[in-house]
Amino acid sequence: KSLKNFNTFGIDCQASFFVSVSSVKDLKSILSSEKNKPFFVLGGGSNILLTKDIEAMVLHINLKGISVISENDFEIIIEAQGGENWHDFVHYCIGHNWGGIENLSLIPGNVGTAPIQNIGAYGVELKDVFESCQTIHKTTLKEKTFTLEECQFGYRDSIFKNAEKGNYIITSVQFRLTKKNHKLKTSYGAIQQELEKRNVEKPTIQAISEAVIAIRESKLPNPKVLGNSGSFFKNPVISLADFNQFRHNFPEAPFYEVSSTEFKIPAGWLIEKAGFKGQRFGDAGVHKNQALVLVNYGNAQGAEIWELAIKIQEKVKDLFGIYIEPEVTVI
Ligand code: EPU
Repeated sequence: KSLKNFNTFGIDCQASFFVSVSSVKDLKSILSSEKNKPFFVLGGGSNILLTKDIEAMVLHINLKGISVISENDFEIIIEAQGGENWHDFVHYCIGHNWGGIENLSLIPGNVGTAPIQNIGAYGVELKDVFESCQTIHKTTLKEKTFTLEECQFGYRDSIFKNAEKGNYIITSVQFRLTKKNHKLKTSYGAIQQELEKRNVEKPTIQAISEAVIAIRESKLPNPKVLGNSGSFFKNPVISLADFNQFRHNFPEAPFYEVSSTEFKIPAGWLIEKAGFKGQRFGDAGVHKNQALVLVNYGNAQGAEIWELAIKIQEKVKDLFGIYIEPEVTVI
């Protein structure tokens, strides 16, 4: 089966075996009948670059459903199944006036994969609203709930990318959202500008969501039109000593202070300065509005995109002495 419609890069790789599961019961029975065989777990396919066909069984997590776990006058705990589309879920919550994830509007992917890389945008990360997630261990089939602390969230990072990498399938996630007195995060420059442009004086979660959607649509290519996986690289975090050197050479570069000893440099700026923004090599390219996003103009193979990524990494390393690490999972 072709995986072209199951990864947002639109790479045409094949899966030897493909099964889509829509209940936890089916998921368990497949895991137990295929015991000891390798699996490839596929969620929304929005954070992977496929560079080869997949010999293992591809397990497409298609669990659906949203339900209220508990609520009081101020807060609600809401559970979404892993196969729910992330933005549809955000939209659903905003429709009910439940606040906390409006800044995370329009992020591609599914609810069940959002915790793996602790998705984040415009000053909010998944961890800020995360209550817990339900998982199944791939080999023991035991169900386990991971709390906020147990997930060990960091910048685009969690236990599911480290100590427990590949061990669990996330079947559902619970979020703690606000019903009133929403804690709006509008400090991010781009959001402020967009709200001003729209003459919004008293922002609401709806207004923030609309602003975020407008910003993302102006900068980030729609995967349905132009294949991509959002940010291809993470923004590198460098030490104070490296930062001082970098700042001396490139005083005009933007940066964020992570702590007094760590500084984050936007990889998009480094890639643009390295001359790659808007460049195209065959069907693989660097997006014209956001250099952090690699795109597939149609029939690029995963390997071509990966080749371009390596070329970018090397040039950035040569020019700035900074290593940029992929954010997407390269298969
Ligand atoms: N910049 C450039 N050239 C570019 C792109 C960016 O000079 O081509 C500069 C901008 O001028 C700005 C800085 O880099 O000063 C940061 O750019 P931006 O605010 O667009 O954010 P980002 O660092 O490029 C991160 C996330 C995005 C998230 C935005 C908004 C990472 C790897 N990426 O991008 O997440 O939407 O912030 O919060 O942290 C994703 O993970 O797929 C993703 C899109």
